[in-house]
Order: sequence, then C-alpha cells, then structure tokens
Amino acid sequence: MAGALLGRFLLLTQLCTYARATKFCRESHGMTHNNEVLIGHSYKSLLTRGIFGCGHECLASLKCTSYNYQTSAVGRGICELNDGEFSGKRHLVKKQGFVFVQVKWKQRPKSCWEAWKQGARTSGYYFIQGRTECLFYEMYCDFSSEPGWAWTLVMSQSLSSRSKAFAKDSFLRGPFKNQQYPNWENYRIGNSRMNIVQGQSSHWRVTCDFPSYGVDYRDYVRVAFKKINPMKYKVSGGCREVEYINIRGHNCTKCTAGWWQTDTQFLTHFSDKDICQFGKTLGFLDNEANFGGYWKNNVSSEFRCSSVNTSTTNHWFGGKV
Ligand SMILES: *[C@@H]1O[C@H](CO)[C@@H](O)[C@H](O)[C@H]1NC(C)=O
Ligand SMILES: *[C@@H]1O[C@H](CO)[C@@H](O)[C@H](O)[C@H]1NC(C)=O
Ligand SMILES: *[C@@H]1O[C@H](CO)[C@@H](O)[C@H](O)[C@H]1NC(C)=O
Repeated sequence: MAGALLGRFLLLTQLCTYARATKFCRESHGMTHNNEVLIGHSYKSLLTRGIFGCGHECLASLKCTSYNYQTSAVGRGICELNDGEFSGKRHLVKKQGFVFVQVKWKQRPKSCWEAWKQGARTSGYYFIQGRTECLFYEMYCDFSSEPGWAWTLVMSQSLSSRSKAFAKDSFLRGPFKNQQYPNWENYRIGNSRMNIVQGQSSHWRVTCDFPSYGVDYRDYVRVAFKKINPMKYKVSGGCREVEYINIRGHNCTKCTAGWWQTDTQFLTHFSDKDICQFGKTLGFLDNEANFGGYWKNNVSSEFRCSSVNTSTTNHWFGGKV
C-alpha cells in the first residue's frame, strides 16, 4: 500500500525549468524498487527531507541516472545519487527501508508524423523533441487537411515579409531560424530542427494561405524528398518530378516542373518559364515567383500565396500515416 502510494507520488516528481521552450526534460518515474538499492554507482550522498527532495537533487544533476532513498528515516533520510547505466535488476541488492528509483529522459515525438504514430489526432500545437534531450519546441501539426497525412509546419511567411532575411534566405543556408513559436506570418525553424523533422518525412508541400483555404489543391505543390530535398537542392531551373502541382488551376500529377534554388535564391518555381513537363502557367508575369522566393513586385495577385500582403506561403514536411 505504502509502496503503491509512493509510486504515484514519484510519477509527479519532475524538474521544472522555466524557459518556455525548455519544458521538463527528465522525470523520475520508470522503475521503482522497494527495499532494494543500487550499489557501487553512488557519486554523492546527502540527507534530504523525504523522497521528493532526493528526486529533485537527482533531476537537478545531469550525471544522475538513479537514486536510492532511505524511506524508513524519520525526518531526513539518506539520499544517494547514482550515475552510470542501470543494466538490470541483478545489480540491485536488498536493503530494508530503502527504495531505488530510476530517472528517465522524457521522450517527445520528433515530428508531427511521429506525434500521430503516438496517438495525436487533433491539428494544433505540439511539443516536439529538439536536437538534445532537454530541448523541446512547439510545432504546428496538421493532421486533417489531407486525410492519411501528417504534416509539420517548418516555415510560413506572409507576402509582406518577403524582403526579410528568413523569407529570402535559401534552405541551403543554415543555421537559420526566425521565431521560435509557430505563426503564419514570420516563422522558420532552424536547419538542425528541419533536418530532424525531415528525417521522419517522405514529402514536403507548400500551401497558400492555409488558414483561409486549408487544402483544396488550388495553388499547391507536393514533392517527395527523393526528388528534391530542399536542404540540398542547388540547381537553377532543374526539372524534377512533383507528385502534384497546381498554379491558378493549371495542374499536373507526377510530372516534372522547373525549380530554382541557389545560395542566394530561395527555392522557387517561375511560372513564366516554359520548361519541363509542367511548362508555363497562363496569366504569368515576367519572372513570376511561386511558392516562395518572391521579390519586388514580381508576384501575381492571381496566385493565392501572393494575392495580398497578408497572404501566406506555408512550407510543411510530412508523410503518410
Ligand atoms: C504591402 O507590403 C509592402 C512591403 O511591406 C508595402 O510596401 C506595401 O505598401 C504594402 N501594400 C499594401 C496595399 O498594404
Ligand atoms: C486540373 O487541370 C484540369 C485540366 O487539365 C482541370 O480540368 C481541373 O479542373 C484542374 N484541377 C483543379 C483542382 O484545378
Ligand atoms: C517584374 O514583372 C514586371 C511585370 O510583368 C516586368 O515588367 C518586370 O520586368 C519584372 N521584373 C523583374 C526584375 O523580373
């Protein structure tokens, strides 16, 4: 009974740090063994008032992987912090009145695709694992616009942001980030986070003004990373297969379209260039940029990503679930 109660309290023992993006990174639930201790791994021994105090000491010390606490003590009990890997119960020895508790890294999904695999079904903001155990980020996940797909928003710009560095700098340039918290006007995650999300994604897509239109496949493109990896692609006017592309209703499925990206030119398609299977799109302006890489006034108000200053261009990485 006491053991069960203790177990429940231990579940709640977490170390809180107060930076908004860095939520609790470790927790002390996991294995709890009553009347047992781990020996030979203790690097610090102290007295704490209750097991919570001992749990906090352990969570506050990066070295600490588990602890032994003297539950039988009246007042302060012995708290031993252990380091090293705990490789199984055989390393534990019986000791009446003590408890052994293991500390675990909290795991968060690394992308919205993984969040879906772990049961998430509602589109919205999720905490995602960063590149180290203690880094968590908020990300915007879309699970509903295309049934069977899970998408992570990696970048979004409003047309009026087009001259800002984050909107102009190519994906080849990194590290780069703009705004930690997802929003539609001014958002781009850094390249290391992009690589993490990409590692769990098979495709990227660009939507136009997603908050207004969602996905109705007008002014939209979806490409497999196998065909173009935006973080590596460095070609001016290369023909690459897209799964689907639509500009002003001109569309094709599994055809090649022209793509431009250099160190200084953000990944873009020009709808006035009559190249590849997709060719040009009627109603084009000279050098009309689509899906990003806008400059000056060479943006069409007939393309939803660039209709008005508040129109947004949204880049997503994702895959089928
Ligand atoms: C749109 O944004 C650009 C650049 O920020 C600005 O120069 C222009 O006046 C804006 N146009 C309108 C109609 O608000
Ligand atoms: C795609 O193009 C065809 C003509 O090639 C057209 O009939 C169809 O309506 C277009 N689809 C969309 C979603 O605009
Ligand atoms: C931008 O588009 C206008 C109108 O189509 C065209 O006259 C101009 O040459 C273009 N500018 C550039 C830099 O491509």
